[in-house]
Amino acid sequence: MRKNRFYITTPIYYVNDVPHIGHAYTTIAADILARYNRLKGKDVFFLTGTDEHGQKVDKAARERGRTPQEHADIMVENFRALWRKLNISNDAFIRTTDPEHKKTVQEVLQRLLEKGEIVKRAYSGWYCTPDERFWTEKEITGGLCPECRRPVEQIQEENYFFLMSKYQDRLIRYIEDNPSYILPETRRNEVLGFLKNNELGDLCISRPKSRLSWGVPLPFDDEFVAYVWFDALLNYYSATRYLSPAAGNGGDWWPAEHHLVGKDILTTHAVYWSTMLMALEWQLPGNIFAHGWWTVNGEKMSKSLGNVVDPAAMADKYGVDAFRYFLFREVPFGLDGDFSEEALAKRINTDLANDLGNLLSRTLTMIEKYRDGTIPAPVQARDREDLEGKVRAWFSGESDTGTAAALDGYLGRVQFHQALTHLWKVMGEVNEYIAATVPWKEKDEDTLSNILYTLAESLRLLSVYLWPFMPDTADNIWAQLGIGQKIGGLKLREAGVWGWLKAGTRIQKGSALFPRIDLKKNFGKKAPAGDKAPTPPEKKGGKGAEKDNLITISDFARVQLKIGRVLHAERIKGSEKLIRLRVDTGEGRQIVAGIGRSYTPEELIGKKIAVVTNLKPAKLMGVESQGMLLAASGSNGELSILIPDRDIEEGAVIR
Ligand code: MSP
Repeated sequence: MRKNRFYITTPIYYVNDVPHIGHAYTTIAADILARYNRLKGKDVFFLTGTDEHGQKVDKAARERGRTPQEHADIMVENFRALWRKLNISNDAFIRTTDPEHKKTVQEVLQRLLEKGEIVKRAYSGWYCTPDERFWTEKEITGGLCPECRRPVEQIQEENYFFLMSKYQDRLIRYIEDNPSYILPETRRNEVLGFLKNNELGDLCISRPKSRLSWGVPLPFDDEFVAYVWFDALLNYYSATRYLSPAAGNGGDWWPAEHHLVGKDILTTHAVYWSTMLMALEWQLPGNIFAHGWWTVNGEKMSKSLGNVVDPAAMADKYGVDAFRYFLFREVPFGLDGDFSEEALAKRINTDLANDLGNLLSRTLTMIEKYRDGTIPAPVQARDREDLEGKVRAWFSGESDTGTAAALDGYLGRVQFHQALTHLWKVMGEVNEYIAATVPWKEKDEDTLSNILYTLAESLRLLSVYLWPFMPDTADNIWAQLGIGQKIGGLKLREAGVWGWLKAGTRIQKGSALFPRIDLKKNFGKKAPAGDKAPTPPEKKGGKGAEKDNLITISDFARVQLKIGRVLHAERIKGSEKLIRLRVDTGEGRQIVAGIGRSYTPEELIGKKIAVVTNLKPAKLMGVESQGMLLAASGSNGELSILIPDRDIEEGAVIR
């Protein structure tokens, strides 16, 4: 790989749905590596984007009464907005509907056909429509797709095949000869095991337009479009031709250094993509890294369970940097992990508020108190053990155990967790240094100056290394130290050197980096659910309660119910549950509904719902609600909103 270039990619995400924590996870991971390599002085190309063709997107669009292109144009904005919110520094955003990308896909198809790598064949096989893939007789069990457990159907048709099978041995050898091609090692062994124990088939790379027309047309047969994965994988190459820095220089940026992917899409990358590149006689990427999956409070994340974690809501509630930090500190990249807000809040309190936040505020308080808010010049240590030298060694460029070497090693192997563990170890050492030097008892002014400079400079350097993970926090620490520059744009070879901080700088102590979260209040014994109507007191004799609670028809008639159509829906910042709706009930109104764990805003838009229209307006999290929608609550807490059985106009009265 060229020394001074660093090209990193995320998967391109399907626009059939809104982004979730899984999308955020890979994209933040790529952001960390992109930022780190920029700090190292490399030319970086960080690519993310969206996968917009294929059955999934076509189906999602149909369900919403849109064309696939209209649907993609709307949904892509959710991804762009999330990346802005999460401080993602991607250099480009590719959409597979870009004309330049489609052109590359067609050129590649043509080239492979001419090289005899693609042939047309009659084919019959078991097809899983939701997953858009064929399975062999052996692979399916009981008529179900081995991946998603939904029924498969037998399909017979003529199709184009990429002759993937002939690359089987070469691929095995390549993976064996290049130990870091697929990481982590457990995944590499899985792929090798699969390749050694199964006969690789050829890959069906076309779909008849009669079945699916939403895709890149085959340049040599207009009855077909390209299989969505064939189209999607090529994004990594096509982007280098029109989206890379200094685009136009052909495939100058190819190959990528890292493709970061989730474990579920490792086969498509390790097998399909690698063999496609072999057939094209192009270089293979440096590394494909497969990360694990997040469960939520111990359960699989799924829409039907209503536990899908919305990264934007988490960032709003806990802060972007705390969320970014948590994802990479809690679980080694590569393993599965469990997400819970409580675990996130605990990390904020211990690692961020205590370890990092306190170190900064103690240091700044002492500089204020003993040096009137000005960073003192370091003076040679008095005749005592060189405690400062020990701290400096953690940041020294020459030392093998120093932070620069450690981070380089860890981040080169995509080990975020180890990199953060190292930084916290250094933080611990700096805290120990305070305990050992006891600055508040130091009588010698020179020594005290030296201690204070050592602390400030340690914090400055720690921030440089934290910056890829928590860019705003790192810049905030610099600002509080009085440094008028931002870290982005600087290089480790200057800003990573001990002594860069100028004596005489006036600090700007600000508020705490991470306010502590009251765990007891937020996660302790569950408070009685505030949003549930109080249960009527039950009388002795059980059943009587319901009888005593009877109302007359005129009581009921006081409630005005109407049909409303949802015009717009969005989550309320800081709440997992609350969604703000604009509803047309004959007149426009705003409703705040606690249905955010069961519904995404996106799927509510356009729905007709039942609304109580004469409820006194009330404020929920500061947002006024002019009414209430009706929803049934299942025993598992899942909500189902009530929808009219037949189409009926908005404003229709319910009685
Ligand atoms: N479009 C394809 C990728 C094509 S790349 C050439 C695709 N898109 S996706 O939108 O479904 O991507 C989902 C990504 O999110 C995958 O990398 C997947 O591993 C990841 N995750 C989905 N659920 C996840 C978790 N619960 N946890 C972590 N990551 C998860 O696949």
